[in-house]
Amino acid sequence: MLFVCLGNICRSPLAEALFMKHVHQRGLEDKYSADSCGTSGWHIGEPPDARSVANARQNGLEYTHRARQIKKDDFNEFDLIIPMDASNRAHLEAQAPEKSAAIRLMRDFDPGHEGSDVPDPYFGGEDGFQEVYDILDRATANLLDKLEKDEI
Ligand code: 4NP
Repeated sequence: MLFVCLGNICRSPLAEALFMKHVHQRGLEDKYSADSCGTSGWHIGEPPDARSVANARQNGLEYTHRARQIKKDDFNEFDLIIPMDASNRAHLEAQAPEKSAAIRLMRDFDPGHEGSDVPDPYFGGEDGFQEVYDILDRATANLLDKLEKDEI
């Protein structure tokens, strides 16, 4: 599972951490692994945004990551690539080789919000981080449900 956003410091590292939280809670770590990356190279090597980390900690989640940019091999090394918004998806689809993992929007796994973007909290206020946390907690749990039911 590869989660993708623009900077790889706000949304996708949190999606990766929340997906793995659900995997651990269900004892499924032998079956699933996850990584995240950005379509841009703007924050390569940086840890997740301090506001995302602080918000996650308030919700009981600790995580780390180092930002990296999508690379050609990613399209073959992962089974499923999950962009956070339509812009990230367009960027990935433009780069994808002919033989590529499936690319599916994160909120296609958020019932009632299929086709919507995970909002980018980077330029917004504190509330945005909790909103993103709640969306990603819900969508990654639902994604795992669907994987377990072989519906993807
Ligand atoms: P992310 O958020 O794509 O969720 O990691 C952003 C991080 C940085 C920037 C934009 C979005 N930026 O413009 O630097």
